[in-house]
Amino acid sequence: MNPLHLRSAGTSLVISTHRGEAEIVHWGADLGDTLPDLSLLNEPIPPSSIDANVPTGLLPQASSAWQGRPGLRGHRITDGVAGLDFSVRLSAVSADADGRTAVVIQTDPDAGITVASHLTLHPGGLLELRHELTNHGTSPFHVDELATMLPVAPDAVELLDLTGRWCRERHPQRRAIQQGTWVRTGRHGRTGHDSSLLLAAGTAGFGNRHGKVWATHLAWSGNHEQFADRLADGRTVLGGSELLGPAEVVLQPGETYQTPTLFAAYSDRGLDGISEAFYSWFRSRPHHVSGPRPVVLNTWEAVYFDHNLETLVELAESAADLGVERFVLDDGWFRGRRDDHAGLGDWYVDGTLWPGGLTPLIEAVTSRGMDFGLWVEPEMVNLDSDIAREHPEWIVRPAARSPKDGGRLPLEWRHQHVIDLVNPAAWQYVFDRIDALLRDNNISYLKWDQNRDLLEHGHAGRASVHQQTLAAYRLFDALRAAHPSVEIESCSSGGARVDLGILERTDRIWASDCNDALERQTIQRWTGMVVPPELVGAHIGPSTSHTTARTHDLSFRAITALFGHFGMEWDVRTVTGAERQELKRFIALYKEHRELIHSGRMVRADVPDESLMVHGVVAADHDGGAADSATAALFAVVRTRTGFAEMPGRVAIPGLEAGRNYRVELLFPRPADADYGHAFMEAQPAPWLASGAQASGRFLGEVGLPMPVLQPEHAILLRVTAL
Ligand code: GLA
Repeated sequence: MNPLHLRSAGTSLVISTHRGEAEIVHWGADLGDTLPDLSLLNEPIPPSSIDANVPTGLLPQASSAWQGRPGLRGHRITDGVAGLDFSVRLSAVSADADGRTAVVIQTDPDAGITVASHLTLHPGGLLELRHELTNHGTSPFHVDELATMLPVAPDAVELLDLTGRWCRERHPQRRAIQQGTWVRTGRHGRTGHDSSLLLAAGTAGFGNRHGKVWATHLAWSGNHEQFADRLADGRTVLGGSELLGPAEVVLQPGETYQTPTLFAAYSDRGLDGISEAFYSWFRSRPHHVSGPRPVVLNTWEAVYFDHNLETLVELAESAADLGVERFVLDDGWFRGRRDDHAGLGDWYVDGTLWPGGLTPLIEAVTSRGMDFGLWVEPEMVNLDSDIAREHPEWIVRPAARSPKDGGRLPLEWRHQHVIDLVNPAAWQYVFDRIDALLRDNNISYLKWDQNRDLLEHGHAGRASVHQQTLAAYRLFDALRAAHPSVEIESCSSGGARVDLGILERTDRIWASDCNDALERQTIQRWTGMVVPPELVGAHIGPSTSHTTARTHDLSFRAITALFGHFGMEWDVRTVTGAERQELKRFIALYKEHRELIHSGRMVRADVPDESLMVHGVVAADHDGGAADSATAALFAVVRTRTGFAEMPGRVAIPGLEAGRNYRVELLFPRPADADYGHAFMEAQPAPWLASGAQASGRFLGEVGLPMPVLQPEHAILLRVTAL
């Protein structure tokens, strides 16, 4: 069983059991076919320390002198005595690899604990790791934490993670890795606006396309921690775990707890290599969205709660005329929902607003060739709803007492509470209602929202975020099984539930409630580090953003939305004349390029001028042959603010094939366009802009092209074609 060596796409993972317990000897660059005797890596024993070599365990443990964050924290309660078996000594009993998958079983017979670790190294280099802990003892075992961790090489000296808030999700922050633990904690009961989609450690100054990077993502939509731990002995691990509440996981004899999956990628070519590993994995899944991603019109910023059949039919007609392919009716259609104070939980079409049900609108939409989508928020309830009045005991609260008996409810958030999906009757009610809506109406798409944090979240008086998260997953799974053709979007006050746990059961995420293109450039860039663009909703909002009051040209809004799953969230009835023609052009442009955008490699240039972002999509090699790779690309050059120099200078267009010749041309705006005059701030544009440029991929990547002097908050589109 010794050692296990998984290899793929330039990555190796080596697990050895030569010291008894399973340890991760290497995760990083591919090591080739043959490995030396790994005992050569046994560390020296420093002065004033434990008299033993300390392995970096697959599940690091104090019994082998690991003094960093432990892999397992837990204890047993036997005959009323708590705190027993607080330290386990796991050693490997089997370690098997089958191609790219390995299963390692470790056990401590005295403590009655067995841990099975499952590892898969996918063809694109993405690594999956999870542990399953089983209680073989005769008394209950409390799991306080079971963490998934991976060591990174000593030259990883900088850490990048993401944080945010409503309307500003997934912004980067960087720091030097120093001794101690950097922990990102999510106690929101959902993934959270501030959750770090990725924790990346890398060599000094690692960037979009240079440097070695090791990165992890925890696939979990409940409470969690992600951490980087640098020990005093110099070793560094990255990891993540579910953050469990008091006695949330108590294993009875024979029961098992499974960790969320830790996804991890290594790249020797910066963050773009990390994205490649994630995208390759997403796109290889059998249930990954396929076919053209339809142009969306969402009604939220167009009409908000002002639902009226006549208005919405007009909106649908206007949308169809533009070339929209999916019409999504947002919040406001169900019983009692006139604003956000009432109605959540009553998943019946409101009879006063919709006397004929949703059918007249659905027919107006589908008869014009569009799919119909509907907004729901199944996990939530307003106190002002029939269901809350009928079943107050279904509303989540910290103590077992019902509200009628003085049981305290958690504080409200957007006037709403959480429905206790751990209660089987409540779960069944929600399932039945959404199932009935999908059966009774011609609905192709659900925008599944979740608009509050879970605070003081209990079931029967005990903390239950863990169980609620699993129950919500079961609800998604059951509805998907019953309605396999219905697509589901994960929305959560914008982008507060973006993780690979929810993305296993949904088909796109709503990245943010902010449709301001300038904010979206950053939000989408960092969301796109993990999630491919076909799964990231990106809409053109009104010219003046509803969430920031900034005003942008249509071209800046459209070029921003183009690099995602494109749509509009705008009262398009008001868009007339030349602006309507321009909008139609962008919709046509999206349709023309969506196959490339949704299958290609995402490329982000390292641009020294921080006022400029250059990103694009390069056609991916479909059949493994070099001959037909990188035949086309689409790039956006985005000016976010004024630059420090008079000219941006030459900017590289990377990611093309070095030995191929390409033509680069300005796709938008063209000189006749109104936005042309707004976008450029030049006495005389660089000559190549008018005529196009021809150069090799090597030249474009190394020397680049002189970029135009763009006005702040403007963008241009470049089309690259192989000659
Ligand atoms: C949340 C979503 C929005 C919209 C509203 C409706 O805030 O993020 O997109 O659906 O709810 O209430």
